[in-house]
Amino acid sequence: MKFSNLAAFSTLAAFTSVASADCDYVSGNYYCSETDAVVYSNVGYSGSFMDVTNMDESTCACTQEKVTFSGAMAPLDQELSVHFRGPLKLLQFGVYYPSEGTSLKKRDATASEDCSTVIQHQHRKREAAVAVVEVTSTVYVDGDGELVSATTGSAVGFSDSAVSTAVVVTSSLAPASSAATSTAAAASSAAASSAAASSSAASSAAASSSASSSASSSAASSSSSSGASGSGWQRVSYYSPGSTTNCTFMNNEGGTAGSGVWSSCFGNSISFAASDGVSGASSAQALDEVTLASDKEYMIFSGVDCSDDSIGDCGYYRGDIPAYHGFGGKTKMFVFEFLMPHDYSSSTNEDMPAIWMLNAKIPRTLQYGDSTCSCWSTGCGEVDLFEILSSGSEKLITHIHDGQGNDGTSTGGGGTQDYFARPTSSSLKAAVIFDGSDESIHVLEVSGDFGSTLSAATVEEWLNTSGSSAALSS
Ligand SMILES: *[C@@H]1O[C@H](CO)[C@@H](O)[C@H](O)[C@H]1NC(C)=O
Ligand SMILES: *[C@@H]1O[C@H](CO)[C@@H](O)[C@H](O)[C@H]1NC(C)=O
Repeated sequence: MKFSNLAAFSTLAAFTSVASADCDYVSGNYYCSETDAVVYSNVGYSGSFMDVTNMDESTCACTQEKVTFSGAMAPLDQELSVHFRGPLKLLQFGVYYPSEGTSLKKRDATASEDCSTVIQHQHRKREAAVAVVEVTSTVYVDGDGELVSATTGSAVGFSDSAVSTAVVVTSSLAPASSAATSTAAAASSAAASSAAASSSAASSAAASSSASSSASSSAASSSSSSGASGSGWQRVSYYSPGSTTNCTFMNNEGGTAGSGVWSSCFGNSISFAASDGVSGASSAQALDEVTLASDKEYMIFSGVDCSDDSIGDCGYYRGDIPAYHGFGGKTKMFVFEFLMPHDYSSSTNEDMPAIWMLNAKIPRTLQYGDSTCSCWSTGCGEVDLFEILSSGSEKLITHIHDGQGNDGTSTGGGGTQDYFARPTSSSLKAAVIFDGSDESIHVLEVSGDFGSTLSAATVEEWLNTSGSSAALSS
């Protein structure tokens, strides 16, 4: 959209010029200070998105219905799948939930920075580290810091005039490429597969149950009991090279190797990923210790098949796919150990690694393609955890894309222009903690082992780590 009402955005324009002085502008994005922790606050709102109810293989059309949600963390309390794009080597992945009785203490919102954070931020004004950034719209700024366009309406405000953070995020990892691309790529490989060749055979009826609005899973209850530390956090899913516990690696090779489907309407569905991460497979495999090449992608679901509805209802999904539950609940923790070495071997998304999360409904219908065939564009949720925004960059950005502040779209949410350092030669360990008790999401670098249990004290220390702040709009 062409920016047209300068007066309405004058406050914003003032901030962007501040931002251009204090932050670096590189290839369309601002980067401010390096950080080792980003804390999102006020996560969750009442709203709605359009849930897919059918994918018609004869008309290539999808139907949707409106579903509503509300409460702490919503809609990010719904099941999430975890996505990876190369160049990337994954060394560990785990998911934890608090044991019953484990307390998530209210933390002091104005907690001062600890020493390591001060060191990280020494090159900027101290105020900036505790400033609250509210991001409710996306703006685009040229190389001189001039505002060139903005999404409509929403106010962008700062709680602290000393803030040095720019409000410019232009990237999202969800439906970027077109169905046409995957369809074309699929055509040749699909010919070999018995399932495919007869074009748009109607086949999707089978496994899918009708959509329901039950989505807000309560897999993990966030205990807010006070006092004792309880027994900590239990690891329920874990991966290390060659071995998986309760997690399933998938990619988008449906119809090529014995799982998932290909159709002329919707291209390749998701499929089990082979141990190399890039081929399909007929059954679940553990990923080997592999460096995923630039632009290649895989994703992780839980090990629980959607036919098991004891942990929730997957809703509608594309027929004949391996459909697995994601990771649900208001309170949940993900851990990662990974490397993102440089690799310029692809022409698209060249040397732009990323780790992100999607509402698990998105890949189970259509991750890339017609926007009416997934709930993404209407805001069912994406959390970019560590994303390189331009080829060759070593600055990882985190951002939430959902409808918070702009219901029914994926242009709400928010983030910060502070960045994590890309781990090009030695691995980075990180934790991502969804804390339903105070409606926060913490993305931070950590050290130590990811054992089968993490003590409440360890997680509390992680939750106490202050860093860059991003408050979503009320
Ligand atoms: C497997 O993962 C799912 C999703 O997080 C969880 O609900 C379930 O309890 C896990 N199963 C085991 C045996 O830990
Ligand atoms: C976390 O912060 C709270 C309040 O600021 C403090 O009482 C507690 O001791 C801290 N815990 C750890 C493990 O650092």
